[in-house]
Amino acid sequence: VSLLNHKFELAARPIGLPKRADWVYKEEPLRDPGDGEFLVKIIYISLDPAMRGWMSNSKSYVPPVGIGEVMRALGLGRVVASKNPGFAPGDYVYGLLGVQEFAISDGKGLTTVDPAIASLPVYLGALGMPGMTAYFGLLDVGQPKPGETVVVSCAAGAVGTIVGQIAKIKGCRAVGIAGGAEKCRYVVEDLGFDAAIDYKTDDVRKALQQHCPRGVDVYFDNVGGEILDIVLAQLARGARVAICGAISQYNTVMGIKGPSNYLSLLVNRASMKGFLVIDYAGRYGEAAREMSEWMAAGKLKTREDIVEGFDKFPETLLKLFKGENTGKLILKLADA
Ligand SMILES: NC(=O)c1ccc[n+]([C@@H]2O[C@H](COP(=O)([O-])OP(=O)(O)OC[C@H]3O[C@@H](n4cnc5c(N)ncnc54)[C@H](OP(=O)(O)O)[C@@H]3O)[C@@H](O)[C@H]2O)c1
Repeated sequence: VSLLNHKFELAARPIGLPKRADWVYKEEPLRDPGDGEFLVKIIYISLDPAMRGWMSNSKSYVPPVGIGEVMRALGLGRVVASKNPGFAPGDYVYGLLGVQEFAISDGKGLTTVDPAIASLPVYLGALGMPGMTAYFGLLDVGQPKPGETVVVSCAAGAVGTIVGQIAKIKGCRAVGIAGGAEKCRYVVEDLGFDAAIDYKTDDVRKALQQHCPRGVDVYFDNVGGEILDIVLAQLARGARVAICGAISQYNTVMGIKGPSNYLSLLVNRASMKGFLVIDYAGRYGEAAREMSEWMAAGKLKTREDIVEGFDKFPETLLKLFKGENTGKLILKLADA
């Protein structure tokens, strides 16, 4: 092969919101896959809030992306050449493929996906990492019981849309917190949430009291910061707070703002627990099977927000931090 690869390498550790100059765009000839390896043409790149953390040097659950290394990202692609008996040309694979047009892999960490079961973008959203996060974070950490009230922030995003819908499937009341009237309309009218709070215009405390008159039994927190603090003050007795993420804090240059209303945990005999989706890797199959059934039965709707053009990677990633995506944000590189 005499193919050229294009990629974004990390050039600098961002201060605040990442900017284009924090990456360098490179063109490189592709080598042939060696024994046990195969070549993947990347079709979709998953844009995830975690990517901001991977760019920073602070201690985390995985080492940061090194300066000069290809930017880490989940993606989905098609095998185009293979010297690995487990992967054949034409197979579709999902996993950490990086922000590049082609990847050479030995198969470690990649899973094969079946386009006959769901359309390819769904494998980056509801049936991929964000869907698994919603499923295990809500069911395993949140432990919702029928009749309880589940509140989720980033409600119109990749994880939040699934959390609220699973809460409804489990017989709970689902209340979303999202930025903007259209996102609030979407989760209530199209996804069946019971109510939504627009944190940009509503008084969140008052709206929670109105929509959760018996308090919040489960809070699935995606934003941290001030909203976490407000929800803590509205917990019901025995509430569970699942700490999934804190996107309001990922680009801060002022130091992370922690909650001050934590004594609500004491008063309400409540718990607050962080979790990482990767710890559930052994159970992804079980979750994907159940979620596919819900999708086929029309109980679980999915939405992908797809932007075309590999060169648009830097500014498209920022949509997550500006609230410009609805559903799973994906960068499309090529046709399937
Ligand atoms: N623990 C885990 O294993 C795990 C795995 C995956 C994801 N996560 C976390 O889950 C959360 C959601 O991820 P996602 O992939 O589903 O992203 P997403 O919700 O699809 O997109 C991010 C959303 O965050 C909201 N946002 C951005 N800045 C905000 C701010 N300052 N205050 C409040 N909201 C803000 C925006 O929605 P609005 O328009 O509503 O503001 C934006 O659309 C993130 O915190 C992520 O880190 C954790």
